[in-house]
Amino acid sequence: VLTKRIAVLPGDGIGPEVCTEAIKVLEAVSERFGHQFELDVQLMGACAIDATGDPLPESTLQACFEADAILLGAIGDPKYDNNPAAKVRPEQGLLRLRKSLGLFANIRPVTAYDVLLEHSPLKADRIQGADMLIYRELTGGIYFGEKGRTADGAYDHCTYTREEIVRIAHLAFQSATTRRNKLTLVDKANVLETSRLWREVVQQIAPEYPSVAVDYLFVDNAAMQMILNPKQFDVILTENMFGDIISDEASVIAGSLGLLPSASVGETAAMFEPIHGSYPQAKGKGIANPIATILSVAMMLEHFGMQEEADLVKEAVDYTLDKNVLTPELRADHPFTTEQVGAFIANYVQEGGESFRH
Ligand code: IPM
Ligand code: MN
Repeated sequence: VLTKRIAVLPGDGIGPEVCTEAIKVLEAVSERFGHQFELDVQLMGACAIDATGDPLPESTLQACFEADAILLGAIGDPKYDNNPAAKVRPEQGLLRLRKSLGLFANIRPVTAYDVLLEHSPLKADRIQGADMLIYRELTGGIYFGEKGRTADGAYDHCTYTREEIVRIAHLAFQSATTRRNKLTLVDKANVLETSRLWREVVQQIAPEYPSVAVDYLFVDNAAMQMILNPKQFDVILTENMFGDIISDEASVIAGSLGLLPSASVGETAAMFEPIHGSYPQAKGKGIANPIATILSVAMMLEHFGMQEEADLVKEAVDYTLDKNVLTPELRADHPFTTEQVGAFIANYVQEGGESFRH
């Protein structure tokens, strides 16, 4: 029995709704296994700007530093997206949080669920069995380089240090050794100097992992391969912006962006969040899929060393998909609400699946 302190940042749009369901599942885990989860709910994103003028108030950052892990819903609001002149933006809060906590590796698993094969716009035989893990660098590159305006233009610099590449490359290689021993570096080394550094570093590290076959793809080709033949991928390693883009693309394989969780880790801190955004059009309608956030909780439990607990949450999600307990983007006729899907999964966890299987 363990006690863990979790900072919860519900954020904007559907963030609070999906967090509520993920917390139900955490509570079910706590009931069943006797762990104590101390939740510390804080503002981040547009809601924090509205309340304090700052997307990442000092008190939120402090709570994150003090927590064993962070659960994030989603952030963002169209009133900032459509205003290029806005000086303060919700996204700045998230980026500052990632940077302040040193969350340099963003890990995004993508699997094709058999029961959802027909929901993907891609042909079932192309995606059946696809199972990949994307390692996206999260605190460097063009997101964090110097940016600004010139007299009649603008610039965003992309920079990487050797060490920034080395540390995530080791994580990706290690992970490949526990999977199918394949690592694909996605870059644009035919054009970008930073990409050539990525290749150089990966080539230098590769001999330390003799079981891992390394493959190199330019990002444009990788984007095409992701749709043509996603089964070829095991672990993908890539820089910040390429990882942002190809992970949204990869979600099409799963059938819905609402299914994909992620973990962001550094030397000490760890944050767990769905890969989807704040989906403001869906706010308050009960149509948001809570599964990405619930699977993010499963990744958090794994991070805590609670493997049995994490496996039970994943089993509950599989059961839910099997039983067609789905939100409208996956089930147009008689869809279930965000709350119903969350409750179904939480019940399964609480019962340990037993009464469900009988
Ligand atoms: C993500 C998001 C963020 C990113 C935005 C909200 C800044 O798209 O986590 O993938 O680009 O990293
Ligand atoms: Mn993104």
